[in-house]
Amino acid sequence: MIYPSSVSPLTSLRVIVAADPAAAAELATTRILTLLHSKPTAALGVATGSTPSPVYRALSRAQLAESLDLSRARAFALDEYVGIDARLPQSYRSVIDAEVTEQLGFQRSHVSVPDGSAADLAAAARDYEAAIDAIGGVDLQILGIGHNGHIGFNEPGSAHDSVTRVVTLTQETREANARFFDDNVELVPQQAMTQGIGTILKARSIVLLAFGAGKAGAVARALEGPIEEASPASALRKHSDVTILLDEAAASMLS
Ligand code: GLP
Repeated sequence: MIYPSSVSPLTSLRVIVAADPAAAAELATTRILTLLHSKPTAALGVATGSTPSPVYRALSRAQLAESLDLSRARAFALDEYVGIDARLPQSYRSVIDAEVTEQLGFQRSHVSVPDGSAADLAAAARDYEAAIDAIGGVDLQILGIGHNGHIGFNEPGSAHDSVTRVVTLTQETREANARFFDDNVELVPQQAMTQGIGTILKARSIVLLAFGAGKAGAVARALEGPIEEASPASALRKHSDVTILLDEAAASMLS
């Protein structure tokens, strides 16, 4: 069951509380399909993590049913670990290859992931930002949220006008992501290359998904707390086209 959407009194954010993650994923998928039907060359901003996976699966099903051709569409990943071998399953390159490029049938050359193995990381970050600008920007950015409110790998304290750059991950984030590294936090890279918050805010539309009680605090702070650098996702309230798709547990701390 989908609850009626409500418009946050503070901002133009649309907050939709769906009955479960699958229902929220269907809503996100509908948004993506509408975009791709009207603009087959659209650029999607794609997030990794557990949260967007049902969206990519729903999109794959819808695509098969509707014979949607994604061969002209583009995708830009949010982030990548620094120093990780891109062939390892934990690299975001591997995750995006499997969940986006192969599952959805994007052309490989149309899918970009920050190069966390570049010899010159600063140049690679500048090139990534420039590549997004060169194709005219991201049309629809899919986002998850970290327990500490991070978006991409923009940890608390990130400037809201930050661009693609190398960042140091917090211990909290490394512990949260240790589940992908044999539950060994020592194996989680210390740094990542991430689109900045300013980069993310350049997308024409943004859809953030959050599921489960563990995200409720981060969601409440992002939507109802102060707009401040200590709260990276609060920056989304500066954007004019953001949809927040939650399950009931993730919405449970909203007033
Ligand atoms: C990682 C990613 C984020 C993602 C977050 C939450 O740190 N860099 O882009 O939003 O994890 O992940 P999950 O959806 O698995 O909870």
